[in-house]
Order: sequence, then C-alpha cells, then structure tokens
Amino acid sequence: ERAIAHEKDMAGVKLMVTAGPTQEAVDPVRYLTNHSSGKMGYAIATAAARRGAEVTLVSGRTGLNRPGYMEVVDVVSARDMYEAVTERAEGMDMIVKAAAVADFRPAVCAEDKIKKTGTVADAAIALERTDDILAWLGAHKGAEQVLCGFSMETKDMLENSRRKLTKKNLDIIAANNLKEAGAGFRVDTNLLTLIRPEEEKVLPLMTKYEAANVLLDELMRIRKEKRSL
Ligand code: CTP
Ligand code: CA
Repeated sequence: ERAIAHEKDMAGVKLMVTAGPTQEAVDPVRYLTNHSSGKMGYAIATAAARRGAEVTLVSGRTGLNRPGYMEVVDVVSARDMYEAVTERAEGMDMIVKAAAVADFRPAVCAEDKIKKTGTVADAAIALERTDDILAWLGAHKGAEQVLCGFSMETKDMLENSRRKLTKKNLDIIAANNLKEAGAGFRVDTNLLTLIRPEEEKVLPLMTKYEAANVLLDELMRIRKEKRSL
C-alpha cells in the first residue's frame, strides 16, 4: 500500500463494522451459509481506519487478509456475532451492519456426521430463527449513536429496504439489488442506494472502497445532525 495522507476527519469516532457471512453448523462437517465475501464490510472498516476512526471489525469467516490499524473480532455463527456485537455496542458512535447473517440455523447440531445410509427424512434439517442483531441494536440505540444497516434484495428493493429502516429503527440503510450487474456478492464494485427516512441517494457504480467512503461521509453528516440537536 502506498503512503497516502488521508484527512483524519473521523478521528475520535468509535465505529463497529460487521462483515462477511455466518456459518451455522449442521453436523461436525457441514454448515449453512451464504455468498457474502466480506469485501464491502472490510472496505468500510479500512476506509474508516484511514480516516482516523477507532474501528472494531466483527468478522465472519471470509478468507480476506486481516486488515491492520483496527481491532478484529472473529466470529463464526449468528449467535457468536450477536454476542460480540451486543457486548460492544454501547460504547460505539457508529455501527454498520454489513454482515450477511443467517436468518435460520439448524435447531440442533448433530453430534456425529449425518450418514447417507439413513432415510431422506432422517437427513431433514429442522431449523430455528436466529436473533436479529440489527433489530436489537435499533431497540438499544444511544441518543447520538448512528446505526446503519445493509439490505440485499432481489426484488422490491426500495419498499423492502424502507420497511427494514423503519422496523429496525435505523438512521440509514444501504440497499443493493442482487440482480443488477456490478452489485452484490464477491465483486469489487457495488451499486448502492442510500436510504434515510426522508432522503434517498442512488449512487453510481463504483468500487466498494469508493462506496465505503461515500457511505462514511453520509454517516458523518448524520452524526453532526444528531449532535447539533
Ligand atoms: N441482520 C442482523 N441479524 C440477523 C439478520 C439480519 O443483524 N439475524 C442485519 C443484516 O446485517 C443487515 C440487515 O439486518 O444489515 C438486513 O439484512 P437482510 O437479510 O437484508 O434483511 P432481513 O431483515 O434479514 O430480512 P429478509 O432476509 O427477510 O429480507
Ligand atoms: Ca436476512
């Protein structure tokens, strides 16, 4: 990395970012997960650290290089992430939930490997709901805390994302439509729409790092608004 002087406009800001997928164990050799690469969350954490923020990155398993100049908390399951995040939430000025958290997990993890000699019915996986971490954060949000969610949709992106914004008591939600070229999982670019209660910004196609900086600009703007009330 080249030595680039960054404006330290986020100095003194404590930011927690969650990134990557969760893994939900089925048996000792298998798990349920999703296609999240962690790239968007890592880009946000890295951009914020360069701007001087004190960053805590709560990361599912991604295989990405461990970024420097921040605290990294490794988690595997939705339950791990819930514990790591709720434990650290109170002291944070901003929280960005870029992670793709499982909505359902196997109700039990089989003690031994599930064998194919059983019946199909024996192999069925009973699921239970996970806790919604972002909804918990919204319900426990501090007066000056800025809370940002992400929303991944394949249809009705704006309506569904707005519903999440309201229901989870968020300040802003970054929405992307998986079916648009250049958006979503694994790629290095993103097409985001930043949605606030009375504002919507459609960002052009840009790298995840650029999108991260635009999002951070927006979060800093919201922080100033909240602190001047
Ligand atoms: N999220 C979370 N905990 C969960 C599920 C989701 O914190 N158990 C967060 C994600 O990190 C993301 C936001 O909620 O910031 C929206 O996730 P998304 O999957 O798009 O929406 P859901 O509310 O889970 O609804 P659905 O999957 O039905 O669209
Ligand atoms: Ca979900």
